[in-house]
Amino acid sequence: MATLPTTTNLPPTPAERAIRRRIARHGPIAFTEFMAAALYGPGGYYTRSTAGSDYYTGPQVHPAFGALLAVQLFHLWTLLERPDPFNILEPGGGDGLLCRDILTASRHLPDGFGDAIRYTVIDRRPAAGWEHGFPNADRVVGDFLAPDQASASSPAHCVLSNELLDAMPAHRVRMDGGNLRELYVGIESYVGIESDVADGYEGALVEQPGEPSTPDLESRLSDLGITLAEGQTAEICLLLDAWAAATAALMDSGFVLTIDYGRAAADLYDPALRPHGTLVTYRAHRQTDAPLHDVGRQDITAQVDFTSVQRAAEAAGLTTVGNVPQGWFLQRLGLQTIRRNVPPLDAGGWITLPVGPDGLPPETLPDALQPEPDDSRAWRTNLTHLAQPGGLGDFRVLLQARGLAPERAAALSWLDGQSAAHGYNPSSLAAMIPSEALTLGPERIRLGG
Ligand SMILES: C[S@@+](CC[C@H](N)C(=O)[O-])C[C@H]1O[C@@H](n2cnc3c(N)ncnc32)[C@H](O)[C@@H]1O
Repeated sequence: MATLPTTTNLPPTPAERAIRRRIARHGPIAFTEFMAAALYGPGGYYTRSTAGSDYYTGPQVHPAFGALLAVQLFHLWTLLERPDPFNILEPGGGDGLLCRDILTASRHLPDGFGDAIRYTVIDRRPAAGWEHGFPNADRVVGDFLAPDQASASSPAHCVLSNELLDAMPAHRVRMDGGNLRELYVGIESYVGIESDVADGYEGALVEQPGEPSTPDLESRLSDLGITLAEGQTAEICLLLDAWAAATAALMDSGFVLTIDYGRAAADLYDPALRPHGTLVTYRAHRQTDAPLHDVGRQDITAQVDFTSVQRAAEAAGLTTVGNVPQGWFLQRLGLQTIRRNVPPLDAGGWITLPVGPDGLPPETLPDALQPEPDDSRAWRTNLTHLAQPGGLGDFRVLLQARGLAPERAAALSWLDGQSAAHGYNPSSLAAMIPSEALTLGPERIRLGG
């Protein structure tokens, strides 16, 4: 039994109390159940109004992220022969920031594209009010994996997600004596009696290895051809299959654009590189890596196994168009063009994060994206972070298609300079997005400086 740090001076959250009661009454729970309750259960992390202020994502960094996605979406729309309405569904869209950025930029793209979009955000988090002023945006509070939620928004022409899959609960496993063990969460002092102690308020939450709760864990690894090394710990997200099924069920023909941090299975499960897995926790922009600590007050996340994502979607009837790094994707979509239109910074209300030993060193950037030395332009650092190697630039962008002939599904070739039937190249479209669609406000996080 390994004890992870669990003590805190703060009182337990309702989420922690519910978890403790459950363990006290029914015994240890699989880590995936713990993670689901800690993030999404009553009083869980994502039910807090401050959720999202502990980590940063592409949309929180710069509106250029959504503006460049709008350029790619314009291209997808034309490949789909310009449906009107063009239904975009964003599961896990949080407080709608990416939706607003995409809709704002799309108004400036040609051929009535902006007017054709009908954009729906589905999130478990009830972030209210952001959709005012965006008549073609809808907000649904619910679980994307629940069948009734998905069907409410079908058919979709594009299912787009940014950092959804890494927030899905995952099992944890460890190889021990040649046997695959699953990691459960228990209470150190629990002795299995129905008493006051059985409400679970005493003793630390601890990690407890046990028999796998489902044979699907072994099957996932063997399907991937992965054998964990002795002592190696890894995460396995079995919900990817439900995500793929929910996504495919939503569309007859269209595209699925999935952006997240993660890697191919062989790399993700490499025992030399990641012997302890990739589970991390974040609180107040600090990586805390103590999942049983501050339950309900911190984000818990694990890198995405993109091999399994790709395979799950293919098994559900999608074909894979491409899987490219975010940095490459955004640069090909016109990051440097859009940089010319970014307006000066209104410094008020920004959170400044250091770029230092723990940050993202500027020398890893291509010359054209070097931060400006002039302080008044240091805000451009945010833009460069979207493509930064070693950071957001290494996120994966997976594009998949359903129900489309290969020539219509080839939606990334225009980023390699191949001409598109609509006659625009990415840069010419990016240049149409004006300063007012790229303005930074207090909802962003300032990096650098
Ligand atoms: C890391 S946040 C990313 C938010 C946003 N996409 C962004 O880029 O800033 C993950 C989001 O996914 C949502 N989420 C996780 N699982 C979900 C599910 N099954 N259905 C709907 N939303 C979900 C969470 O509530 C949270 O808002």
